[in-house]
Amino acid sequence: MTSKKKKQEAEAAAQVAVQASPELDVEELEGVGRVTGARLKERGYYTVHDVAFASVKELAEILGNEERAQQIINAARKMLGLNAFITALEVYDRRKKVRRISTGIKALDELLGGGIETKAVTEIAGEFGSGKTQLCHQLAVMVQLPEDRGGLNAKAIYIDTENTFRPERIVQIAKARGLDPDEALRNILYARAYSSDHQMLLVEQAKSMVKRQGASLLIVDCVIAHFRAEYPGRENLAERQQKLNKHVADLLRIADAYDVAVVITNQVMAQPDVFFGNPLRPAGGNILAHGATYRIWLRKSKENIRIAKIFDSPYHPEGEVSFRITEEGLVD
Ligand SMILES: Nc1ncnc2c1ncn2[C@@H]1O[C@H](COP(=O)(O)OP(=O)(O)OP(=O)(O)O)[C@@H](O)[C@H]1O
Ligand SMILES: [Mg+2]
Repeated sequence: MTSKKKKQEAEAAAQVAVQASPELDVEELEGVGRVTGARLKERGYYTVHDVAFASVKELAEILGNEERAQQIINAARKMLGLNAFITALEVYDRRKKVRRISTGIKALDELLGGGIETKAVTEIAGEFGSGKTQLCHQLAVMVQLPEDRGGLNAKAIYIDTENTFRPERIVQIAKARGLDPDEALRNILYARAYSSDHQMLLVEQAKSMVKRQGASLLIVDCVIAHFRAEYPGRENLAERQQKLNKHVADLLRIADAYDVAVVITNQVMAQPDVFFGNPLRPAGGNILAHGATYRIWLRKSKENIRIAKIFDSPYHPEGEVSFRITEEGLVD
């Protein structure tokens, strides 16, 4: 091999390698001093990783200058090797680092390939009473279990937009799983969101809490209710979708940057133009369809039986499983 070719190959390899720890303090970045560092941290950007995943617009708001924001983001991406192509093998290795939270329903876990994934946004859609909120409660307990029992030995953050969180349910589910109920309640950090703006602010706060508190699950139940109520009708649709887009992007970034499983619930709406098949579809249009990594559809069967299906998945086979809603939570 010529020395020129060798040099080219070495350079290519260097581009592929991840160059710095994502946990590095923002102040390690070129062009970020004490003052800028403090300002960034105040707004939730603590590490090089946080900045690498930020949008120019967000940072420009903090720094007062788009060009500067772009420079700092580029520096962060370069430091982490994010501005380069990687090999499929490396993608595969990264995929293996994804962790999973058991849903507590064996059949559903199997369908999901082991459970709800970190570094991803999982949407649960379905009609009223289909069990979306129940599944959120169950996951908030399951994540606390040790890893050999399907959990991540971690806390959950629960953002409740419809005031349907019930600690009593957590107590029941925790007891059924052999956890101390008080401890289980302590490990769920709860906030009620009163409007779409408030909901987005809470997600911002959750971002800085995830690390400090050791949370591996972030739940938003329900992600779209406030948006639908505040921006009704066609005339407000564009504005609503734009805002929702930012919200979903924020959630995806938290999932990816902090190795957290994000679970959102979604309402359904009737499609007036469907004559055959299911006339219901998830709300939120393309924004949620593209924003959510995985989508679970729940529907009611008789009495306490519910059916779950994964749809639009990049790698799950289509399939259905059924489970029951009981006093002890959701079971096969
Ligand atoms: N302790 C319990 N034991 C058995 N079933 C329960 C218990 N608590 C709630 N359920 C059942 O769970 C169902 C409600 O599910 P859930 O609240 O999760 O629906 P949802 O999909 O979130 O609906 P919405 O769209 O209205 O938010 C009801 O059918 C209710 O009977
Ligand atoms: Mg609900």
